[in-house]
Amino acid sequence: MPQLGLGTYGLNGRRGTEAVIAATDIGYRLFDTAVRYGNEAAVAAGIDAASVSREELFVTTKFDGEFQGGRRALRGLDDSLRRMGLDYVDLILIHWPLPRRDLYIDTWKTFEQLLATGKTKSIGVSNFKPAHLDRLQSDTSIVPAVNQIELDPTLARVDARAYHEVHGIVTQAYSPLGGSSSPVVRNPTLIEIARAHGRTPAQIALRWCIEIGVSTVPKSGNVERLAENIGIFDFALTADDMAHIAALDQGESAAQDSDHIGH
Ligand SMILES: NC(=O)c1ccc[n+]([C@@H]2O[C@H](COP(=O)([O-])OP(=O)(O)OC[C@H]3O[C@@H](n4cnc5c(N)ncnc54)[C@H](OP(=O)(O)O)[C@@H]3O)[C@@H](O)[C@H]2O)c1
Repeated sequence: MPQLGLGTYGLNGRRGTEAVIAATDIGYRLFDTAVRYGNEAAVAAGIDAASVSREELFVTTKFDGEFQGGRRALRGLDDSLRRMGLDYVDLILIHWPLPRRDLYIDTWKTFEQLLATGKTKSIGVSNFKPAHLDRLQSDTSIVPAVNQIELDPTLARVDARAYHEVHGIVTQAYSPLGGSSSPVVRNPTLIEIARAHGRTPAQIALRWCIEIGVSTVPKSGNVERLAENIGIFDFALTADDMAHIAALDQGESAAQDSDHIGH
């Protein structure tokens, strides 16, 4: 899986398709969609029109609460593949654990079946906490390849990352710029570090993701910012920069509570 990809939440219809085509031209190879975003077809149309073969691309989709339990994800993946006109996706994620419904173990067992069909190359989760991952580990056979979680320089998710590392799970940062209003790009510390490197605050935040070893999927529908966000592989942050960024972390309690989202 490429370490940096394109988040596509809010990129619907022609805008979504055009963003995917532009991103592919610029060098993006990972695309993150979800049934819930209503843009799987638009994203796939971009992939289809792109000048890069399907095998070179990595496509992720996610299944929300509607697909939990009762082997609903079997049908869910068939429907997603049909909408996208693809034979397979590279990664499917359980979008939220929804622990109060207590169906995520059952859903994960369905994901294990889906992996065996070859219709997805890998299986993972999103918004899972260590306690949810512990239950998967004790009740099912396959460790999730990825846990996609909210993570940015002000929300470093130190404990979650440590857990993932011990268990061989890739951490993937969503909302790496802080989400739709991108507050991270206005952070004074990041602005100062950006100035010193002749970069932008967004590039500092995304480069920090790379340096702490997490994958990330920033979203942009703007060609200049698409290029800006992937243009982070030709410089490095200093130990001093990393220490200043570490001091921005507001701690785990600032993260969205996965018990309360996505019902
Ligand atoms: N698993 C989950 O529960 C979950 C939840 C949330 C998000 N996600 C995934 O993660 C992706 C990214 O998260 P996100 O969309 O919430 O937020 P994000 O990537 O942190 O930020 C996106 C916002 O930042 C702006 N932006 C992008 N590049 C910029 C730059 N270089 N400088 C200044 N502003 C910039 C974008 O505007 P423009 O488009 O105008 O550039 C957009 O408003 C989503 O699209 C989705 O694929 C997953």
